[in-house]
Amino acid sequence: MSTAIKKIGVLTGGGDAPGLNAVIRAVVKAGCNAGLEVIGIEDSFDGLLEFNRMRVLTTRDVTGILRRGGTILGTVNTGDPFVKSVVASDGTQQRYADRVVEMFHKMGLGGLVVIGGDGTLGLAHRFIELGIPIIGVPKTIDNDIVGTTNCFGFDTAVAFATDAIDRLHTTAEAHRRVMVVEVMGRYAGWIALYAGLGGGADAILIPEIPYDVNIVAKSINSRDEFGAHFSIIVVAEGARPKDGDVSVIQERGVGRAERLGGAGHRVAHALELLTGKETRTVVLGHLQRGGSPTSFDRVLATRFGGKAVELLLAGDSDKMVAFQPPNIGAVPITDIVGKTRLVPPDIDIVRTARAMGISFGD
Ligand code: F6P
Repeated sequence: MSTAIKKIGVLTGGGDAPGLNAVIRAVVKAGCNAGLEVIGIEDSFDGLLEFNRMRVLTTRDVTGILRRGGTILGTVNTGDPFVKSVVASDGTQQRYADRVVEMFHKMGLGGLVVIGGDGTLGLAHRFIELGIPIIGVPKTIDNDIVGTTNCFGFDTAVAFATDAIDRLHTTAEAHRRVMVVEVMGRYAGWIALYAGLGGGADAILIPEIPYDVNIVAKSINSRDEFGAHFSIIVVAEGARPKDGDVSVIQERGVGRAERLGGAGHRVAHALELLTGKETRTVVLGHLQRGGSPTSFDRVLATRFGGKAVELLLAGDSDKMVAFQPPNIGAVPITDIVGKTRLVPPDIDIVRTARAMGISFGD
């Protein structure tokens, strides 16, 4: 064990996901129990710009947050720190990144645990190049970070979406309607796939398999023929028709991804015209990111946090902790940045869903 590190920082970046607080708690507990001082940094890397946005976290401070959604440290998912500047103490302009490095050293920190998705871990890698030792923890409900089979937050989002589909089943059946459920999943359809299979959906439309709405309509009509007069269609927000594009409501900006919206409504509108059946849309949106993490996510988040501290104590850096069942391992951050773990269209879960008669609209 390296004796050089006496103090570490922890921050959360990107969109929130259930389990962020569980990771923070694990980092603080593992760190304090190993004799480290742990500093909580507010609002992603922004918190490193000012002393009053950093605070000592003791085990007492994290008591009771295991089950709490959100993040006690706050988070930021817009802006590119590497193009920003800030006002230095002498009134001149200073590069944001230079200030972060300066403050990291002024705080006497020996390393950081950065909890975030692809974007935040990409920033982390750039700070590592500037000399800050960092261990990343993968976070996104979309579960699309490469190198890890699971990100914490995904299981909770799937559980919520499955419960929503269960509730929609009963009302769909009562009214003989088609219910379209739009779930998150900007580039990857993991949430739609797992919640759709778990909830017994009749069609699942995901970004990786462009759909033909006529094929989905056909599967609804064939259900009608065998006496099931209702259907549940799960649509990932990033799903797109074979001859069209994703539904964007706000274009990409500097340090900001495009905002998606309308995928479910588009499918519902077309299905109503094609089948003549009453169709309704439910957009689950940010409800999937809220609430208490499932026990799976709590355990995963805790193991991630513990492993991150273990790696920093061993003098390691530039790694992301990863779930490599049954173990928690680590992968170089460079191996994951800029990549997306998509659903392989021929993966067994897709084949099984097809065997269940679920349509992917292809
Ligand atoms: O990346 C996770 C995610 O949940 C995406 O599925 C979704 O498109 C996005 O976050 C929404 O982000 P925001 O909170 O900025 O609307």
